[in-house]
Amino acid sequence: MGLNKVTTKTLLEMKKRGEKIAMLTAYDFLIAKLLDESGIDVILVGDSLGNVFQGHETTLPVTLEDMIYHTKAVCRGVKRAMVVVDMPFLSYQINVEEAVKNCGRVLKETCASGVKLEGGSEISEVVYKLTSVGIPVMGHLGLTPQSIHKFGGYDVRGVDESEADKILNDAKTLESAGVFSIVLEKIPSELARRITSSVSVPTIGIGAGPYCDGQVLVVYDMLGLFEEFKPKFVKRYAELSKVIRDAFKNYISDVKTGKFPSESESY
Ligand code: KIV
Repeated sequence: MGLNKVTTKTLLEMKKRGEKIAMLTAYDFLIAKLLDESGIDVILVGDSLGNVFQGHETTLPVTLEDMIYHTKAVCRGVKRAMVVVDMPFLSYQINVEEAVKNCGRVLKETCASGVKLEGGSEISEVVYKLTSVGIPVMGHLGLTPQSIHKFGGYDVRGVDESEADKILNDAKTLESAGVFSIVLEKIPSELARRITSSVSVPTIGIGAGPYCDGQVLVVYDMLGLFEEFKPKFVKRYAELSKVIRDAFKNYISDVKTGKFPSESESY
């Protein structure tokens, strides 16, 4: 393992020191390389690729083969960051044996050193087994997109007291089962603060306010590439769709008017 490689141990130490963890998604070699060179701590090969890369409405159609394909591309661009892979819908929910086989495949066939699973107490047995055979697991609570049909929409989770208590208890259950970190998606900041101070493992927020141990966004959202909708929690750090559209329009115009290629671009 490279000297400066980020590991589960690094992330735990960062929480202890109060140093924030920066995580973003990537689905391809070039973005992963840029992220790694910029000093990102964790790259998540998110099943959000189902939405922003494949154009599906939900993450449900994403397959294990898709995740392995994209992770292999990401890995070729990464030297330092920890790579974590989202396990797709039905790759870990059926039974413990299938979960171990599928998560094990990800670790055997790619450079990833962790997997992310959505859910709380209902997957604690799976998390326990995975961690006991040496597969690091990141949990994911709150708005878990693989359960979108159960929720019936993308509303904030954990607003009422009983759901907030369940999410807090799930976080403690996942910690006991051995997760090295927990993503908290679209829950009230105060609930995220309670969870963050109640568990020893780092929490990574997305739409969960400022009190988590780290933050994650979907890379195409924060780059302003995905324009279909913009949730309140997304901060755009660039407007790349505009930049790209302008470039394409300029190219088309240059070709049509004969401005490109010029003598200097010819042999
Ligand atoms: O799939 C994904 O990109 C995610 C993050 C948004 C947490 O799960």
